[in-house]
Amino acid sequence: MVSTTPQAGISPLFEQSYPVNNKRLKEWVNEVAELCQPERIYWCDGSEDEYQRLCSELVKCGTLIPLNQEKRPGSFLARSAPSDVARVEDRTFVCTTKKADCGPNNNWMEPETAKIILKDFFKNSMRGRTMYVVPFSMGPLGSPLSQIGVEITDSAYVVVNMKLMTRMGKAVVELLGEDKGFTPCLHSVGHPLAQGEEDVAWPCDAEHKYICHFPESKEIWSYGSGYGGNALLGKKCLALRIASAMGKEEGWLAEHMLILGVQSPAGEKSYIAAAFPSACGKTNFAMLIPPQGLGEWKVTTVGDDIAWIRPGADGKLYAINPEAGYFGVAPGTSPNTNPNAIETLKRNCIFTNVALTPDGDVWWEGLTEEAPKELIDWQGRKWTPDCGRKAAHPNSRFTVSAKQCPSLDPAWNDENGVPISAFVFGGRRATAVPLIFEAFNWNFGVYMAATLGSETTAAAVGKVGEVRRDPMAMLPFCGYHMGDYFNHWIQMGHEIKNPPQIFCVNWFRADRNGKIMWPGFSENMRVLKWISDRIHGRAGAKQTALGWMPRYEDIDWTGLESITEDEFDALMHVDTELWKSELASHSELFEKLQERLPRELVITREMLELSLSRL
Ligand code: GTP
Ligand code: SPV
Ligand code: MN
Repeated sequence: MVSTTPQAGISPLFEQSYPVNNKRLKEWVNEVAELCQPERIYWCDGSEDEYQRLCSELVKCGTLIPLNQEKRPGSFLARSAPSDVARVEDRTFVCTTKKADCGPNNNWMEPETAKIILKDFFKNSMRGRTMYVVPFSMGPLGSPLSQIGVEITDSAYVVVNMKLMTRMGKAVVELLGEDKGFTPCLHSVGHPLAQGEEDVAWPCDAEHKYICHFPESKEIWSYGSGYGGNALLGKKCLALRIASAMGKEEGWLAEHMLILGVQSPAGEKSYIAAAFPSACGKTNFAMLIPPQGLGEWKVTTVGDDIAWIRPGADGKLYAINPEAGYFGVAPGTSPNTNPNAIETLKRNCIFTNVALTPDGDVWWEGLTEEAPKELIDWQGRKWTPDCGRKAAHPNSRFTVSAKQCPSLDPAWNDENGVPISAFVFGGRRATAVPLIFEAFNWNFGVYMAATLGSETTAAAVGKVGEVRRDPMAMLPFCGYHMGDYFNHWIQMGHEIKNPPQIFCVNWFRADRNGKIMWPGFSENMRVLKWISDRIHGRAGAKQTALGWMPRYEDIDWTGLESITEDEFDALMHVDTELWKSELASHSELFEKLQERLPRELVITREMLELSLSRL
């Protein structure tokens, strides 16, 4: 263990068990220490030992509660501050020199001004705390498709989550050598401790939060929150907002997509990437187990949240999952809806904001049909089924390593990625949008993806259940002007030899009483089979105004009797009146993006309007 003082003027204890040769990294760590004035600097090595030690420390200070070691070995529960439970979209900023470059899809701050404001918040923000240096790789170590980041954080909870979610530790510093670049990701919970002041279980700044991105200099500064995408900076901040800007410059795509492998009974395998907005079913779809009747089909998981996609030398698109773990929505996850996730969660998990059972296990709404008679809710209060409150927070989550997932695809760690045969886009829509259709061509598909609508969920702070346009499920994650992003998608279609087919799905269509009509979950395999058959040129379809649609007989219903032809028609129906208002809403989005909107999309809208008017 090396114990030195990094710089004159401050004297935090400096702990580093391995050599660091990267000049910029050392300088940056010193600059941050000078600004934030931590008591101690600790360089994470990413070892299992270190993980265990930090978890024990977090137990001592009350952040983590160890769960019953027989029922849930190696697992912990964390309860956040009630003010810090989800991404804060209105406190998330993209700082570009010109306001026009970040687009109306982002909150803007001028970079120099933002830095002045941020420096004021970060000044002394780590007093009394340890400053952790967390080197991580998004993507397989050393892969040409990967990106290296270093997060500096004063939260040990963030460190242990980063260990599960990324390839983290000293091997990354070795890769950096003396002069390789990395994305600096600075994070503070914004709760310095005065001499002798006792810490709280979930430190944060309840009043001020800033999640700032600098796509031009490729930096991230996050202040005030310890939760999820606000604080685990490799995920949304680096792998989506900064990476999307890199992708635009370098000719690739960073997308809010799961990646799955689907194998037919004949052994034909294809990979599909699917974008659904937050809490709209990516984890479930990525881990699907086929239902009775389609048991010969097999689905494997490459990733559940993010895909980095690049054209390969053969003209196909190749995708990697930059993450190494899942930060998944707990509510609704059950042995019926997602048995693979339930198996994944048996051990070595960190649960955040779920309920605690009297025997030291976890519970959340939907885990079992009947709720336990008593629980401790996500805020640490006594809970009974009739108390009128939710036991788990709607955005409660689990953090777990991908290695524990039974459906993990053998190529999930392949440094070249997997070839993508189709893109799927889906939102949460009670009305208007059919269960499944296939776009006529790439540009038409880009139009459908660009105008994707979805009801908002608890994954972000704010109103839940309002339909908003969420282009490519990237509205909160695109690090530059959405019009430029649409152009980039259209351009990609020209650059690849055989662009993947594009499909749209909606698992959430409801009847007049508000009941969701499609059984969903494993039954989504029937839709996935049709998609897979379309890829291989086998499945039948009819042409409609929205694209190609399966007829009742084009879907394999083996083992499922509950969907009649009439019910299928209702799931697939295109209501002209509703689509008129859809198109009006597309226009509203397009008006906002007018200055940079690709002409192709305007023309596609016109064509769609004409075909709908003939129905
Ligand atoms: P993020 O991690 O926030 O990006 O979200 P995600 O897209 O991975 O969300 P996830 O798969 O965890 O979905 C969460 C919610 O969607 C849960 O409430 C699920 O019950 C629900 N859900 C997932 N798949 C289906 C489905 O096929 N049908 C229905 N009705 N609900 C579904
Ligand atoms: C999402 O909100 O899309 C997530 C969870 O995947 S978080 O990492 O908190 O952004
Ligand atoms: Mn997500």
